[in-house]
Amino acid sequence: MKKIKVAFFSIPPKEKNYIKRRLDKNKFELFFFKDELAADNPVIKDADVISVFIYDKVDRNIIDKAKKLKLIATRSTGFNHIDTEYARKKKIAVANVPYYGENTVAEHTFALILTLSRNIHKAYVRSQQSNFSLEGLRGFDLRGKTLGVIGAGSIGVHVMKIAKGFGMKVLAYDVKQNHILEELLDFKYVDLETLLKSSDIITLHCPYNKSTHHLINMNNIELVKKGALFINTARSGLIEPRALYYAIDKGIFGGAGLDVFEGEELLKEENQMLTKNVELEKVDAILKRNLLLRRENVILTPHMAFDSQEAIERILETTAENISAFFENRNYYKVI
Ligand code: NAI
Repeated sequence: MKKIKVAFFSIPPKEKNYIKRRLDKNKFELFFFKDELAADNPVIKDADVISVFIYDKVDRNIIDKAKKLKLIATRSTGFNHIDTEYARKKKIAVANVPYYGENTVAEHTFALILTLSRNIHKAYVRSQQSNFSLEGLRGFDLRGKTLGVIGAGSIGVHVMKIAKGFGMKVLAYDVKQNHILEELLDFKYVDLETLLKSSDIITLHCPYNKSTHHLINMNNIELVKKGALFINTARSGLIEPRALYYAIDKGIFGGAGLDVFEGEELLKEENQMLTKNVELEKVDAILKRNLLLRRENVILTPHMAFDSQEAIERILETTAENISAFFENRNYYKVI
C-alpha cells in the first residue's frame, strides 16, 4: 500500500519523536523540517498533508504547487496564515487545534498584566544592577479594577475566571453572547464603546479576520479610559498600528503587554538586514518595534503565550489525531 506523505514545517527537532510515536509508520511517511514552509521545498509537490505553524504562509502559490494535497493541518488555533477560501475551492481540507491552550494563553495574559501592574520588569533590570530602591516601582492592585475582555471565547472565558480570583470586575464584548455564562461567571456583556470607556485593563481574545481587522483604530482609540493597560495575546492586526503607537505616546494606554505585534514575523530577518536587501516596509515595522521597546511601560514577548510543555503536548496530540481521523473518515477539528 502506498504510504500517505505528511510534511511538517517549523517543527523543532525535539517534537519529532512525539509525532512519530502517534502516527502509524506502516501507513504514513513523515517528513520533518525545522524551517518554515517555502515554495521551493520539493516535498510539497508530493505531500498529501502539510502541517504548519503560524508563520508558515499557506497561500495560492503553495496550494497550486501541492498537486496532491488533501489536508492542511495547522498546529495552532488561529488559521489566518492559510488561504482557506482558495483551499476550499481546491477541495483541500483544513484542520486546526482549537482547544489546546485556553488556560495556557490566559496564564500568559496575566503574566503580562501582573508584570505591568507591579513593575516586575523594571525591578528585575534594576536588581541585576544591585539597585534595590523602590523609587518609581509603586504598582496598583487588580482587586476592584475593571477588566475588559474583547472576545469571550475559550481563552477569554479562562481569563475572566482568573480575573474573578483577583476580585476584578469583568466586562466583555463579543458578537455572540451566552447569558447563562454571563450569570455563572458574574461578568457583563457591553458594546465595544462602553468596554473601551470603562475598562482599566483591555485584553484581546477574538480571532483575526476581515470583521476584526483594526477593531481598535484611530476612530475609537480616544474612547479608551485614560491610562488603561492594553494587553494583546491574540493577533497584531486587531489594532491599527498607528492607533497603538498614538495611544502609548499620548498616555491613553498607561502600558502595553504585547505577545503579538506588527512585524513579529520579521524577528529572524532582522539579523540579516545588514547583508540582505530587506523591503522598506519591513524596516519600518522593525524600527517601530525597536522604538516601542525603549518605552519602560511596554513589554513584548515573542508570540509565546501558547508555549508551555503541557500545551505543546496537547497540540501535537490533537494534530496527530486530526491527521489520522481525516484518513479514517472520523471526526476531526475541521476549519473547512
Ligand atoms: P474562540 O473561537 O474560542 O473565541 C473567540 C471569541 O471571539 C468567540 O467568542 C467569538 O464569538 C468572538 N468574536 C469573533 N468575532 C468577533 C468580533 N468581531 N468582535 C468581538 N468578538 C468576536 O478562540 P480562542 O481559542 O479563545 O482564541 C482566540 C484567539 O487567540 C485566536 O483566534 C488566536 O488568534 C489567539 N491565540 C493566540 C495564541 C498565542 O500564542 N499568542 C495562542 C492561541 C490563540
